[in-house]
Amino acid sequence: MSDYAELLPTAWNELEQSIVFYRGEPVGTVAARDPDIDVLNYDQVFTRDFAVSAAAFLLRGQTDIVRNFLTALVELQSRDKHLDCFRPGEGLMPASFAVQTQSSEEVLVPDFGEHAIARVAPVDSGFWWLILLLAYTRASGDEGLARQADFQRAIHLILALCLTPRFDMYPTLLVPDGGYMIDRRMGVYGYPFDIQVLFVAALSAAQALLADDDPLREAVIERLGHLTYHLRRYYWMDFARLNEIYRYKVEEYGREVVNTLNIYPASIPDWIMRWLPTSGGYFAGNVGPGRMDFRWFAQGNLMAVMTGIANEEQSNAIMALLEQRWDDLLGAMPVKLCFPALDGLDWQSITGADPKNTPWSYHNGGNWPFLLWLLAAAAVTAGRPELARRALDTAAARINEQRWPEYYDGPDGRLIGKEARAFQTWSIAGFIAAEELLKRPDRVSFFALAESPAVAACSLRVADEQTQGR
Ligand code: GLC
Repeated sequence: MSDYAELLPTAWNELEQSIVFYRGEPVGTVAARDPDIDVLNYDQVFTRDFAVSAAAFLLRGQTDIVRNFLTALVELQSRDKHLDCFRPGEGLMPASFAVQTQSSEEVLVPDFGEHAIARVAPVDSGFWWLILLLAYTRASGDEGLARQADFQRAIHLILALCLTPRFDMYPTLLVPDGGYMIDRRMGVYGYPFDIQVLFVAALSAAQALLADDDPLREAVIERLGHLTYHLRRYYWMDFARLNEIYRYKVEEYGREVVNTLNIYPASIPDWIMRWLPTSGGYFAGNVGPGRMDFRWFAQGNLMAVMTGIANEEQSNAIMALLEQRWDDLLGAMPVKLCFPALDGLDWQSITGADPKNTPWSYHNGGNWPFLLWLLAAAAVTAGRPELARRALDTAAARINEQRWPEYYDGPDGRLIGKEARAFQTWSIAGFIAAEELLKRPDRVSFFALAESPAVAACSLRVADEQTQGR
């Protein structure tokens, strides 16, 4: 049992102060309440940030605020078919929204990325909405909300947006750079693992929430099977797999080939040869034609364990990697967002020489406490709660005194982030949700994938291929 007798009530108090009201009802939480830095848009309710607050509220049995948020997003979802590129595409959910008073009436004003730095559209908002809708349904037992016609329509619009055929031949989703939590240029375009995991979790939620006779169900189930197989097979990285890639033949043509994506062994970076332990593994950051980004990204890997996208063996390997590479991946303030940082020419060319994303800062290898809840969820799912407890104890030792920073910097995450905001809501909520999950581990089921025969079948296929050494 932890001894956070004072810390937890303090954290709750902070979280409660971040609540935003709309026509008298709680509808979300602001991103940050730093009294010393210009607010920019941090006074808005961000969809992905609220997902962490929602986890904390749902785990505590406070379901109303989540219901109101879900309803607000249905109202805000873009619903017009636009053929120009300057307005949000049909089905897109906003990155954030604000409550404003117009003609003495409160209204919700969304931002779909048209005001955001670099004008990035959020790929993840609709996915988080679906994941939260399922978690809300499970936590509250209220199945009626998702069955409402406007909610079913919202699910359809999201599915139409992401299941539309595009210019590629993979089950994964092709996305531009910076379309999610990492909302700046970081080489996370193409098929970044973090987004693919959100995509699977969202499809699985849709499968559970669509009416039984919905004609889209079959397409969702089929895609889920192909997608899960693809992720488990092509993104997986452990010592055996590294050795397989190291000895790959290239330029193979036709259907039955081994090096399907034509990865060149010479693209294996030096760092991974020494760093990857002989036991343990993880899902690589990005895989596409002739491309394997070997970086570790925490959000996708932890969510893969929490949801069950990682099979049992893979989940155990991810936890084993965390344990063996603790200083690199968790450090003095868990959890590191990605590892290793891009530096030198890579930093220049991949980030566009972004001064906010210098090596070991912010998205480029910074440490983000909001990820604590996903770490706890992964740890309890994989039967390793003691790892999450150790991480929480580390965070508890200074996070409150340091005023709940948005992120930390440095290879080991000891420095408060160069431009980090204080009283960052998802740092607070991530801590609370992690603690709740350790207290009531069975509640991790709110966020697990729906039972899916397609996914179960693909699990057998991957296991089969692994024993055949393919
Ligand atoms: C930054 C983060 C983004 C987050 C936002 C609000 O832009 O990159 O993920 O949603 O801040 O906290």
